[in-house]
Amino acid sequence: SKTILTDDFGRKHNYLRISLLEKCNLRCTYCMPADGITLSPKADLMTADEIFAIAQTFVENGVDKIRLTGGEPLLRKDFPEIASKLATLDVSLSITTNGILIDRFIEVLKQTKIRKINLSLDTLVASKFHSVTLRDQFQKVVDNLHLLLENNFKVKINVVLMKGFNENEIADFVKLTQFLPVSVRFIEFMPFAGNEWDRSKMVSQNEILSQLENVFSSEAIQKLEDEKNFTARTYQIKGYQGNFGIISSITNPFCDGCNRIRLTANGKIKNCLFSNSETDLLTAFRQGESIENLIFESIKNKKKVRAGMVTIQEMDDPSLHFDNRSMITIGG
Ligand code: GTP
Ligand code: 5AD
Ligand code: SF4
Repeated sequence: SKTILTDDFGRKHNYLRISLLEKCNLRCTYCMPADGITLSPKADLMTADEIFAIAQTFVENGVDKIRLTGGEPLLRKDFPEIASKLATLDVSLSITTNGILIDRFIEVLKQTKIRKINLSLDTLVASKFHSVTLRDQFQKVVDNLHLLLENNFKVKINVVLMKGFNENEIADFVKLTQFLPVSVRFIEFMPFAGNEWDRSKMVSQNEILSQLENVFSSEAIQKLEDEKNFTARTYQIKGYQGNFGIISSITNPFCDGCNRIRLTANGKIKNCLFSNSETDLLTAFRQGESIENLIFESIKNKKKVRAGMVTIQEMDDPSLHFDNRSMITIGG
């Protein structure tokens, strides 16, 4: 039987997030540093065959859910090849995307059994889209959202909330779920290298809920059962088709149920989103060494909460997390 990647706190890691590349066709300020990033040399990125072989080792050790991220995963020229290879594994395969290239890849997504898509969209106001993404692609993303729904994909919309930008759209996003069968997730803005995080820019879980209680009656807001190993605590307005959730990594972490392990585009394991101690799998793989021990060792070093940042005061301390990667090279 399969070994399971269990850490010292009994958490079983069955969910692998693979970043396919470091590039993106948007420039979201919370993700991409204003002065850009130094891209890894192309030779240091995993090839399609390497991604498959490494993923296969994870699957042999209990992984049954793989999410492809980036940068923007659909920008990988060999995305169809990568997805078709991974589709031969016994896993549920999903992607997190900014949505711009969905129309071009819709058939590939169907053929590779990708049924669940998480889409980033931070505003419903066309004229505000540019100020967070630095590109004018609002209509394309909205059209592709509808294309996904017409094709019966299960869609979650990721909304990173930032004070003074989109905190006044929370109720509008929830109203979107009245007639659209989507799950909107409000995400507390998190600190990464180069994104100028400051706790005062973040909109907290409590603020989100209290805003909604002023718009909807408190009996209309129903708590749903959370998914196993959830990132989002989920709710629904009575009678609405969709639902909404809150991903409160800062004010209410969900590390107790963490089942996630990450592989960067250059083949390094991150055992936590906030951990800057990485394990280089790709080099070992290329030297023909076994990577299994490295995977287990990395899981063994995983901290109980947020790479060791237990309190919100520790999250506030730049020295503890600004030497982490920037989000664009982690993939969320
Ligand atoms: P599902 O598979 O649908 O549950 O998706 P997901 O929430 O795991 O992934 P997605 O890529 O849509 O990420 C949504 C938000 O949750 C992003 O802001 C991620 O950075 C954040 N997130 C995902 N996994 C973790 C995690 O393990 N820890 C923390 N703190 N945040 C996470
Ligand atoms: N804080 C919170 N969420 C973020 N994302 C990207 N950067 C940040 C950040 N600094 C989210 C985006 C994307 C997901 C993978 O991560 O919403 O959909
Ligand atoms: Fe897991 Fe780290 Fe996220 Fe906590 S912060 S849920 S330990 S990846």
